[in-house]
Amino acid sequence: MAEAGCLNGNVIIVTGAGRGIGRDIALLAGREGGKVVVNDLGGSADGEGNDAGPAQGVVEEIRAAGGTAVANGDSVAEAAGAERIIRTAIDAFGRVDAVVNNAGILRDRIFHRMSHVDWDMVIKVHLLGSFNVSRAAAAHFRDQGSGAFVHFTSTSGLIGNFGQANYAAAKMGIVGLSKSIALDMARYGVRSNCIAPFAWSRLIGTIPTETPEEKERVERVKTMTAAKIAPLVVFLASDLGKDVTGQIFAVRKNEILLMSQPRPIRSVQRSEGWTPQTIAEHALPALKGSFYSLDRTSDVFTWEPV
Ligand code: NAI
Repeated sequence: MAEAGCLNGNVIIVTGAGRGIGRDIALLAGREGGKVVVNDLGGSADGEGNDAGPAQGVVEEIRAAGGTAVANGDSVAEAAGAERIIRTAIDAFGRVDAVVNNAGILRDRIFHRMSHVDWDMVIKVHLLGSFNVSRAAAAHFRDQGSGAFVHFTSTSGLIGNFGQANYAAAKMGIVGLSKSIALDMARYGVRSNCIAPFAWSRLIGTIPTETPEEKERVERVKTMTAAKIAPLVVFLASDLGKDVTGQIFAVRKNEILLMSQPRPIRSVQRSEGWTPQTIAEHALPALKGSFYSLDRTSDVFTWEPV
């Protein structure tokens, strides 16, 4: 059994680990001596259907490399499924040390055409799913006085993107979830961080490529592989990351970025209070120099990935 490495026999659950970024996290976790629960529902990119194949395939890859892993095919979107994911770790390995909330789907639609089903499904898998699995692990983390959460957010929420109101809302919700867990559970030695990845995967394959700019962007994204995300995830999940909590990182190929968190950037006050008119005349001119433009990720990440 490969127990050397930074995970050193720790039990790590990776959701959505049958493909894409999650698969590479699970493979590295196995190589770093983690006992890995490979969860994946095995559905389509927009969240339909299920298939045990992808999760089982990754378990076999980990075992073939000398590592330890078990598969779980439950959906993170159901509370009972999340409980079974944690139960899989307890039954197979007797404990759980880290949870990586990576499972995801996309149902992109321009906002005025976004259906309630598109909204519900994306919120359920990402935001509710991250809550479900975190909540199911929390009691174990509390009892053992340790634990690490790594959640997946996106620059589609942190910065902006077209056609992803459901996804952006879910991913910003996950930022709030992570920060709140970090605050509430610090006293039990539990850490919680977020990563906004950039990686070519089938989810990116669903991004519209109608304009030449969109096509070029997708070509650039293809050079960023999913395997580049895994080292930071495994670092944060392991004891090497013991001093890191409440942070938001981005990973793009060989770049690791620490992302900002909202703080006041400018303020105005009047001792007599405000009217709509004085806001227009006084507050607006003072504040508008610091307004954010309607940026999308590509407006902020203007340099080529390194
Ligand atoms: P992917 O589609 O390749 O992998 C996601 C996996 O999650 C799939 O294997 C799928 O079967 C599984 N899954 C979906 N719903 C599930 C459920 N209810 N329960 C359990 N498993 C489920 O996608 P990718 O790109 O690897 O995404 C991983 C994470 O990274 C997601 O949270 C995504 O939103 C996030 N992300 C990815 C970016 C990228 O550039 N690829 C950019 C920003 C965020």
